[in-house]
Amino acid sequence: MITITKESFGKLKTGEEVSLFRMTNCCGSYIEVLDYGCTLKSICVPNRLLSPVDVCLSYDSIAEYEEQDGYLGAVVGRHANRIGNGKFELNGKKYSVACNNGPNHLHGGIRGFDKYIWQAHTDETGVSFSRLSPDGEEGYPGNLNVCVRYGWSENNELSIHYTADTDADTVINLTNHCYFNLNGGGTALEHVLWVNSHSFCENDSNCLPTGRVVDTADCPAMDFTLPKSIGRDINMDDINLKNAGGYDHNYILSERGDNFAAAMLTCPQSGIDMTVSTTLPGIQVYSANFLTERRGKNGSCYSERDAVCLETQFFPNGLACGFEPAPVLKKGDSFDETTRYSFSLV
Ligand code: GAL
Repeated sequence: MITITKESFGKLKTGEEVSLFRMTNCCGSYIEVLDYGCTLKSICVPNRLLSPVDVCLSYDSIAEYEEQDGYLGAVVGRHANRIGNGKFELNGKKYSVACNNGPNHLHGGIRGFDKYIWQAHTDETGVSFSRLSPDGEEGYPGNLNVCVRYGWSENNELSIHYTADTDADTVINLTNHCYFNLNGGGTALEHVLWVNSHSFCENDSNCLPTGRVVDTADCPAMDFTLPKSIGRDINMDDINLKNAGGYDHNYILSERGDNFAAAMLTCPQSGIDMTVSTTLPGIQVYSANFLTERRGKNGSCYSERDAVCLETQFFPNGLACGFEPAPVLKKGDSFDETTRYSFSLV
């Protein structure tokens, strides 16, 4: 049985109350989520010594969540990652969305989904968060009803189910921006990663996809078709790594859906292993290159490459690049995508 509790997590600067929900399974493993930013705050699972380890980065106070710029654990949207110059064309009409990352739009704009309190609803095995993103928010067309449900199972599987509908055709790309560290802290460079992908989207020097797709066979440093540590090749003389300051690329998944692993991350020190599966077509492998020194949970200090993000998504800058499937939700259609993170011991 999953036990769900709710407590206060303090107040925003505006005075609005933030709530924290904890979902605990029969083994005592749990996840914590906040209604602010629909944020995944903790994932507490056993290491090989059967001691609990919180495998995601977080902050202790709501004030730190409000100040941060790393999107820790948040659901980002309406469009995750970048849209070049904040411009896209849909049904022959040109749209401009807010630019908040140099010349580009990033993770939904100036006030994206990560900076709102969502409406919470609990059921037997999970917590659902919903919000209405009004027509014109950050420049996007259409009133978008979004719902994100976090589920937690008896065998330590976290599911994130994204659903949405709209009253006008719009752009949508939802992901969760959790920073994983399967050792509970310190560098993540020794984590071993495998990705079910043979190609990735080339980026320019602003981490914006150019439209070119590169075969990992032509780029050994970028290749995760065989498991290797994040740190093994990260400092190699490779233009893709140099441009992004590490891994920060959308990998095109070879298979998707519940029956396929999209990626596997293993921590040799803790023995914790995480398998990702998703219905989405891509995954951003981000080695936390922009994580600047800052106080993290329990007085720890976070710095670059202390985590790995595995953000399942549509391909960034997809409309301008002509990537398929396009990150578009049509009026009358339903957005319905699920990503699962399953934890076990090696
Ligand atoms: C990632 C993105 C990075 C960076 C980060 C937030 O999803 O790929 O380039 O913007 O979010 O700091």
